Amino acid sequence: DWCQLNVVPFLDSTNTFLMQLPTAHAAICLAEVQTAGRGRRGRHWHSPFAQNIYLSIGWGFEGGAAALEGLSLATGVAVVRALERLGFSGISLKWPNDVLYEQKKLAGILIEMSGDPSGSCQVVVGVGLNVNMSLSVAPEIGQPWTDLSLIAQVLGIVHPGRNILAAMLIDELVQLLKSYSNTGFVAYKPEWEARNAHKGLSVELVSPVSCVSGVVLGVNPQGALRLQTAEGEQLFYGGEISLRTA
Ligand code: BTN
Repeated sequence: DWCQLNVVPFLDSTNTFLMQLPTAHAAICLAEVQTAGRGRRGRHWHSPFAQNIYLSIGWGFEGGAAALEGLSLATGVAVVRALERLGFSGISLKWPNDVLYEQKKLAGILIEMSGDPSGSCQVVVGVGLNVNMSLSVAPEIGQPWTDLSLIAQVLGIVHPGRNILAAMLIDELVQLLKSYSNTGFVAYKPEWEARNAHKGLSVELVSPVSCVSGVVLGVNPQGALRLQTAEGEQLFYGGEISLRTA
C-alpha cells in the first residue's frame, strides 16, 4: 500500500511534476504555489501562494484512454464526497468535471495520461480547490468563481482548514483510484446525476470547430453527456468540448 508523498512549497505545476516522475505506481504531490498551474484546454490555473489546494495523484491505471471519460466524472464525485464529509452542502458538478457552488467554479480537475492508450497506463489526476482565493487581489479569472471560506460563511459552518481538506481529498481520491478499475463509472453515476448543475437546462456545447445546442438529459454509463438536440438525443464525449448555459 505504498504511495510516495511529495509536499513541495514551490512548483511549476503538480501535474507536470508527477508526469515527469519515472513511473511510480502511486504518488501524491501537493504544492503551496504553482508558477505554471494548468487548466483544461491549455488554460492557466491561477495558483497564488498558501491560499488554495493544488493536489495531484499519479496512479498506474488499467483500461486505457477509453476509461478516462468516466474516471474524470468520478473524480468530481470524489471531490464532492470529501467536501460533504466536512459539512459542506449544495455543491454541484458541471460536465465533464467542474465543481461548482451556485454555478460558480469552486474546483477544477485536470486528468492527464501517459503510456499505452489502449492498455496499462499512468494517470495523473490534478485537483485545484479554491479555499481562500478571495484573500488575494482577484486577477482576471475568465469565469465566475467562489471559494470554500465564502461558502463556509454562507452555510454557517467552521472552515476546516487546508490540512484537513487535503487529507479528505487524498483519502477519497485514493479510494477512487484503487477501486475504479473494478467499479467503473457506474458506481459513481447516481451521485453524479444527483449533483448535475445543468440537468434540464438549455446549453451550448462549444468546440473549436462547432457549437451544438440542446437540453441536458444526463450522462450515460461511460460518462458521455446526453443532450436532447433538434436532431434527437446525442452523446458527447469530453476532450475539446465545453459546455455553457445558453
Ligand atoms: C480546469 O478546471 O481547467 C482544471 C484545473 C486543474 C488545476 C489543478 S491544480 C493542481 C493540478 N496541477 C495543475 O497544473 N493543474 C491541476
